[in-house]
Amino acid sequence: MGKLFEGQPVMNYTHKLKGLKMIVGIGCASMAIGAFGAVPKPPQFAQCSICHQITKGAASTVGPNLFGIGSRGAGKLAGFNYSPAMKAAGGAWNRPRLVAYITDPRKAVPGNRMAFPGIKDPKAAGAVADYLLSLK
Ligand code: HEC
Repeated sequence: MGKLFEGQPVMNYTHKLKGLKMIVGIGCASMAIGAFGAVPKPPQFAQCSICHQITKGAASTVGPNLFGIGSRGAGKLAGFNYSPAMKAAGGAWNRPRLVAYITDPRKAVPGNRMAFPGIKDPKAAGAVADYLLSLK
């Protein structure tokens, strides 16, 4: 009987230790996820994925690959067949310009070929722009 009671605290201790290790493990994993995915993919981006690739070096589909969009000019991805309007637009894709284009593509770059009506909710359009700018 005495031995049983003595064994009890030891078992509890090892259980606690295992639990602690698990918590530390989970903590490290979530920190790693946080570091790599700083800007979450907004649900509205699903609409863009129909036409746009976003991984480095992926071949463009209907629209140009958007990886690194924040550091290239409008209509400047080599090998993509842009409309004359997008090629002529020039200038960098900074946040305000991306938000304007995402909100109303036809108004922002008149005559461009992107068949998308725009995301009218400014918060959602901003979230999509932030996500795009994080793709680098
Ligand atoms: C139906 C297909 C389609 C959808 C949906 C679409 N795009 Fe596009 N997108 C295009 C095409 C085609 C172009 C090139 C337009 C041109 O050359 O006039 C383009 C161009 C762009 C460009 C300019 C790229 C560059 O290299 O200058 C950005 C930025 C962009 N799209 C973002 C988005 C975002 C963000 C969404 C979702 C909110 C989206 N697009 C949805 C087809 C699409």
